[in-house]
Amino acid sequence: MDFFKWAAPFYDLAMKLVGHGSSLKELSERINPDPGDKLLDLGGGTGQLLDYLPAEVEVTLADSSEEMLARARRKSRKQKVDYLKARGDNLPLPDDSFDYIVVADALHHFEKVNETIRELERVLKPGGRLFIMEFNPETLLTRFISRAESLAGEPANFYRPEELAKLITDAGFDPGLEDLSSSLYILQGSK
Ligand SMILES: C[S@@+](CC[C@H](N)C(=O)[O-])C[C@H]1O[C@@H](n2cnc3c(N)ncnc32)[C@H](O)[C@@H]1O
Repeated sequence: MDFFKWAAPFYDLAMKLVGHGSSLKELSERINPDPGDKLLDLGGGTGQLLDYLPAEVEVTLADSSEEMLARARRKSRKQKVDYLKARGDNLPLPDDSFDYIVVADALHHFEKVNETIRELERVLKPGGRLFIMEFNPETLLTRFISRAESLAGEPANFYRPEELAKLITDAGFDPGLEDLSSSLYILQGSK
């Protein structure tokens, strides 16, 4: 089953019900782009993060699901946005392209996490910053989500914060960890 093909029509409403917007808002408050900075929102889905980003940032919203991207394209935006159908492990983007990369609530859906992290390191500019928002698999809530997603045929690649920090360190990032709630964490990486 193509999970996001099925989920796209319900995604925004479902995320509203679980309060996803407040996590995205908190995440966005940690990103301080200058006017004209370029930001890649990988696994950006229907583009909910853009509601919380300033108008002056130039966004590339990349996602592997045409159905999620179609929903994103329908929304009017204050930012300049390029929409790109692409998988994180094979980004059709030049080296050193972005000042910021965000992967919010998405990496655990990716099949090839190591390859994706290598791509993120390649397309981020030197001095750029990576933000990954993920669920900590040690909590009851994440175990429930993981089980439900596995049953739906998703990879459910949940990493403990220290494990994911090691993966990005091995790929050349300088990591920083922060808990957003008991289940959610933000991993930052500087290149
Ligand atoms: C739970 S949604 C998160 C969307 C958005 N970041 C948000 O916070 O609302 C996960 C997204 O990851 C996308 N995705 C899954 N595997 C992917 C891959 N390998 N490369 C790029 N996007 C992928 C899905 O299509 C989906 O839109």
